[in-house]
Amino acid sequence: MKALVLAGGKGTRLRPLTHTSAKQLVPVANKPVLYYGLEAIRNAGITQVGIIIGSTGREVRDAVGDGSAFGLDVTYIQQEAPLGLAHCVLIAREFLADEPFVMYLGDNFLVGGITDLVDAFREGDYDAQILVTKVTEPQFYGVAELGPGGEILALAEKPDDPRSDLAIVGVYTFSPRIHEAVRAISPSARGELEITDAITWLVDNGFRVHSHLVSGYWKDTGRLQDMLECNRIVLEAIDPRTHGTVDELSDVTGRVVIEAGASVRNSVIRGPALIGAHARISGSYVGPYTSIGNSCVVEDAEVEYAIVLQDSTIRGVSRLTYSLIGRNVEVTRSEGVPNTLQLMVGDHSRVQVRA
Ligand code: TTP
Repeated sequence: MKALVLAGGKGTRLRPLTHTSAKQLVPVANKPVLYYGLEAIRNAGITQVGIIIGSTGREVRDAVGDGSAFGLDVTYIQQEAPLGLAHCVLIAREFLADEPFVMYLGDNFLVGGITDLVDAFREGDYDAQILVTKVTEPQFYGVAELGPGGEILALAEKPDDPRSDLAIVGVYTFSPRIHEAVRAISPSARGELEITDAITWLVDNGFRVHSHLVSGYWKDTGRLQDMLECNRIVLEAIDPRTHGTVDELSDVTGRVVIEAGASVRNSVIRGPALIGAHARISGSYVGPYTSIGNSCVVEDAEVEYAIVLQDSTIRGVSRLTYSLIGRNVEVTRSEGVPNTLQLMVGDHSRVQVRA
């Protein structure tokens, strides 16, 4: 069995970070979302992985390399434009050959792995297996309608009147039959080859399409609030450890990881929180559900419920919350009068200030 990981796409909902960086590389607890997926694939016993890349391909290649760091053998497949999930299957035909495979959306975050799903697929005689999970607002998701035995009867994309509360999760398993399906369908109204259309083709042509219920937590990390939520979930379960230095004026409580080379001086860190390697925290408060990236500087500042990527500086600011800060960003206090905000902010950024 092989795996096809989708790490192209536009990432419009995470701009401006995605102007310069792949959305699959935004970190959750200081580790790119994509890595969690690659680890889940390896833990399911799959080693041959094709990764679909788009305009941010170079960055994905730099981050994953040949896959050996994950125990994987990775092949990159360049997609000329984000033409849809089924288009990814189409262009991966040669890599996939005639083997069954798991397709994993590189921005999906799944706690609990995919081993159950892959085992169930290996045991069952299915042409496709779709991971589903119960959600409270199915109208915002792709929704699966199931028969009594868990077979898929129909799929609907963001239906006004959902037939079930089961959302389609971004992990699927397919037999080689899917290649016929992706060739048979046409682009949708938004110009993409939709995987739901390909799966519907399988159902309509009498092939066996089955559901598999997610056992753990799942999130599609397309938006800021999803990233913060995933970060919270992972931090809630981290094993506290201090590999950096904490001075006697500081107060560190709860689940806190302080990585090697990091220093905490005259500060309060209230977990769950993660302080990346070589970060410097001084005269500051770092509150719950915060991941501070490697080599960041937090000085005379208060930060809470936030993800700060590597090499950024937050100085003299209180209190930064519900925030996702990119790499090499400076957030500092403007001194003197008049009391002004001074901004240099990239395209598609969002800044909220108190009036
Ligand atoms: P989406 O989240 O559906 O699309 P997107 O990345 O364009 O995001 P946004 O809505 O914010 O603009 O994609 C799911 C995953 O599949 C994601 O990891 C990107 C990847 N993908 C491709 O690799 N190729 C494609 O053609 C598409 C549509 C998505």
